[in-house]
Amino acid sequence: MDEINSLKLKFEGELKKINSLNQLLNLKIKYLGRQGLINQLTKKIKQIPLDQRKIFGQKINDLKKTIFQYLEKWEKNLSLKEKKEVFIDKTLPGKKYPKGSLHPLTYIIEEIVEIFEKIGFVRLSYPEVEWEYFAFEALNMPKGHPARDDFETFFIQAKENKKYGKMLLSPHTSSGQVREMLRVKSQPPIRMINIAKCYRPNWDATHTPMFHQFEGLCIDKNINISHLKGTINYFVKEFFGKEREIRLRPFHFQFTEPSFEIDVSCGVCQGKGVINQNNKCKVCKSGWLELAGAGMVHPNVLKAGGIDPKKYSGWAFGFGPERCLMMREEVKLDDIRILYENDIRFLEKF
Ligand code: PHE
Repeated sequence: MDEINSLKLKFEGELKKINSLNQLLNLKIKYLGRQGLINQLTKKIKQIPLDQRKIFGQKINDLKKTIFQYLEKWEKNLSLKEKKEVFIDKTLPGKKYPKGSLHPLTYIIEEIVEIFEKIGFVRLSYPEVEWEYFAFEALNMPKGHPARDDFETFFIQAKENKKYGKMLLSPHTSSGQVREMLRVKSQPPIRMINIAKCYRPNWDATHTPMFHQFEGLCIDKNINISHLKGTINYFVKEFFGKEREIRLRPFHFQFTEPSFEIDVSCGVCQGKGVINQNNKCKVCKSGWLELAGAGMVHPNVLKAGGIDPKKYSGWAFGFGPERCLMMREEVKLDDIRILYENDIRFLEKF
């Protein structure tokens, strides 16, 4: 019986020294655990004379209860903060969340912008929801002009504006040209790059209804085609590689005169059009890949922007960042739609 009393005293002494929940848990194990002091004492019951065993058993049970109650009380007294500290193991490595990345097109656009910023162009954004006027009339395509058909357009069901006509989703970034001329209050110089989403109702391996365009506009005194050629040449060498060449091919746009399409020499066959002597290059067939539409800004467009065509001249070009991405040798995409399908297996590669 003395043993039971001294165990109780021992416990009370130890309990007083406790100042954390962790220590309390250890104390609980020490006394109430399977190999704990209470159980060890219970085993001694066999050594006790028969007539005293019952009382011995009861006393042990009482002690067990008392210890339990004490522990419960103490546990409650210990602050919540301390409980957290005990249960959160700060040494465990943290949870790792999967790392996201930017969309491949965002990377490409950032890269293109950087290239043009180095030669003094400023990035601007003009509306995607636009008036018919800026997408067509201001660009020398009056109402009913057949050239408008080249830019199949999503119209928006909204009230027509007396001056600006119907509301639409801009089918090209050229709508930003006259807006920019007006923004600078018809006072060149202008060195703009306008990158925006454009919309046309097409869906196949080379078209998505939403795509991007990259529009360059340069207006100043004495600006001529050699500046246009030099600028595109600089871009192509920076973006595709030093060995790539460009050529200007006559074309027609209503808003530029003269107009061109700009081709880049194919990176697969090095502009030869053939691989291994006689096999036609499958990527380009001719040695050249079409990159952009461009030309000298039409006098009527300058006039729409309040700029005197006798004093100033300028050029513009427009191309698709999606196509640029696909044309880069290291990215061989045979279907542009994959860019907008949000397939994580594809996006993860960038
Ligand atoms: N806006 C034309 C297109 O969408 C491209 C272009 C831009 C052509 C600027 C000439 C000058 O096809």
